[in-house]
Amino acid sequence: MLTLRRKEELDSKRIQAVTLTKSNKTLHLATPSELGPVTAEEARLLEKLELSRLPRHVAVIMDGNGRWAQKRHLPRIAGHRAGTRSARTTIETCARLKIEALTLYAFSVENWRRPKAEIDFLMQLLREYLRKEMPLLQKNNIRMRFLGRIEELPAGVQNDVRDAMEKTAGNKGMVLCVALNYGGRAEIVDAMNAILAERNGHGAPDKVTEAQLSRHLYTDGLPDPDLLIRTSGEMRVSNFLLWQIAYAEIFVTETLWPDFNRAQLLEALLEFQKRERRYGGIREGEPSDEKPVRAAGH
Ligand code: FPP
Repeated sequence: MLTLRRKEELDSKRIQAVTLTKSNKTLHLATPSELGPVTAEEARLLEKLELSRLPRHVAVIMDGNGRWAQKRHLPRIAGHRAGTRSARTTIETCARLKIEALTLYAFSVENWRRPKAEIDFLMQLLREYLRKEMPLLQKNNIRMRFLGRIEELPAGVQNDVRDAMEKTAGNKGMVLCVALNYGGRAEIVDAMNAILAERNGHGAPDKVTEAQLSRHLYTDGLPDPDLLIRTSGEMRVSNFLLWQIAYAEIFVTETLWPDFNRAQLLEALLEFQKRERRYGGIREGEPSDEKPVRAAGH
């Protein structure tokens, strides 16, 4: 049984020390100082996490803000505001665990169908977030990118987006991508049109390759997500990073986004480490079939 050393660690308060004793053996976690104070539950999860096998890129569909608010008889916008706290925790934790990239789905091309007041609030919330969280982004060495048809957003939002990218351009830590006015199909169409535009006047186009298409996606230069997290229990991909999630492990939790905390993020990372990634091949060590295979495994 895992026991925590210090008296104050016995409750669920935030603790500074993450030195644990397990069957009288003292364990030192690899990143206590980077992660800051952790709860006893987080410490228990961190102990199991293999820091050398974390996903390189985590993508998140932050769903359930409206339902969270509804359950509390609050307006939907209260759910979005509460959702920014989960975004902050997720961003900071991923950055401190040295995950290379984190992509958050903030506003889809389909979200324009929502009431104007909600859309305006979401845009304001994002602008407020970028202003208020800039010190945290800088402190954590985070570089910001925005994925989507940014040129279609209100001028004020475009300015703040550009400003956030410029201010963080020199940072060398995690890349934080905010998908904004984003659609997976729109992204592929934009990539194809960019390829066609490049070829204009350069003779008949030859074949487009996967590598070439990837280079024209909004995510150019980033590894594909290894882990896709979706909150609030919906089993959908919702037009998110359609090309890039081809081999991503999908983790769906019933938790509504405003309730998604650091322990749940650690649970998702642990679940990722339990999965066996085959990329359409067969299990390592499994004897191969000499006979021709009719259907490839997925
Ligand atoms: C989905 O919940 C959530 C959104 C469309 C917006 C997500 C935006 C934030 C959390 C704001 C902060 C973002 C950043 C990057 C700072 P929903 O409204 O669809 O919930 P429901 O399915 O319960 O109605």
